[in-house]
Amino acid sequence: MNIQSLARAEILALEPYASARRLADSAGVLLNANENPFAPNANGPALNRYPDPQPDALKAALACEYGVAADRLLVTRGSDEGIDLLVRVFCRPGKDRVLICPPCFGMYALSARVQGAAVTEVALIETEAGFMADFDAIAQSPPCKLYFLCTPNNPTGNELAADDILALAEHVAGHGLVVVDEAYVEFGERPSLARRAGEIANLVVLRTLSKAFGLAGCRIGSVIAAPEVIGLLRRIIAPYPLPTPAVTAAMQALSPSARKRRQKQLALLTNEKPGLVAALGNHPAIVDVWPGKANFVLVRTVPGAGLVEAAALAGIRLRDQSAQPGLADCVRITLGTPDENRRLIAFLKEWQP
Ligand SMILES: Cc1ncc(COP(=O)(O)O)c(C=O)c1O
Repeated sequence: MNIQSLARAEILALEPYASARRLADSAGVLLNANENPFAPNANGPALNRYPDPQPDALKAALACEYGVAADRLLVTRGSDEGIDLLVRVFCRPGKDRVLICPPCFGMYALSARVQGAAVTEVALIETEAGFMADFDAIAQSPPCKLYFLCTPNNPTGNELAADDILALAEHVAGHGLVVVDEAYVEFGERPSLARRAGEIANLVVLRTLSKAFGLAGCRIGSVIAAPEVIGLLRRIIAPYPLPTPAVTAAMQALSPSARKRRQKQLALLTNEKPGLVAALGNHPAIVDVWPGKANFVLVRTVPGAGLVEAAALAGIRLRDQSAQPGLADCVRITLGTPDENRRLIAFLKEWQP
């Protein structure tokens, strides 16, 4: 399968920007990037220098974490940037379309619309057992360039079966790429598909350090895909996407000692969920609770209950989901520290809509 033939002709034709801090241009007397030779703090990191566009050490650490070869990985400013790069490389304005499965993360459709690409929606199906993707309807929809799937899904928390995802990738090979957003995979039960991305030419996996790794403030995401896809995205990524302090923090978070700490934190969060789910389920104004497989819970209240507003008055911020298709009166609640969760539970005991 020729992935290049799916990319926009303009992207293939352009001459990518050659940044001055590529490894080969970063040794010796550095007079090639109009930097200030004086750092603001002589004892701190060399922030007067542009950062390496794709630091080898960070790529190696992320590739090791995800179990993939480094040439299958592009480090981005969060998954948000990965989504945007994919849309800009593959979608011709006014001609191509992306597919999403709402309710879902809003950036797939937003990036597509900014690019002038059409958005095909195949809604999740709500069943007794929770939400499910409608893979038959996805396969029957008009051909799309990008098929965005998310597992565990934000905001419904449901996971997708690897077999269904791989069958879809096979079905759309030749005209589209399947993009699996695994932002919450570390919280879930199903293994990541990262190792299959790239092996299967049109399968792309998005990972991030923003959730389980606790580094949302650093903006470090990874696109994992075949080297041809990575090469195409590299043609348009910003010259210096990764700030030096963010790279340093990411390297620390990927170290063995941080791994132990993270495992403890993840276990703590997992242990917090049943208590919160029970408190939510016991409230008379909450009619549905979807515990999901991520670090949040989705609930549906009785119509017009005003949970988000009442919680805000108590100093607790929750996320209204009622604008999403099929999620009228729904609210997403992120797991906090045990103390924060206790505050929420105490608020729920008092709350009467
Ligand atoms: C499903 C999903 N994908 C991607 C993102 C964005 O991740 P990042 O912080 O890596 O840009 C989010 C953020 O909430 C998300 O929920």
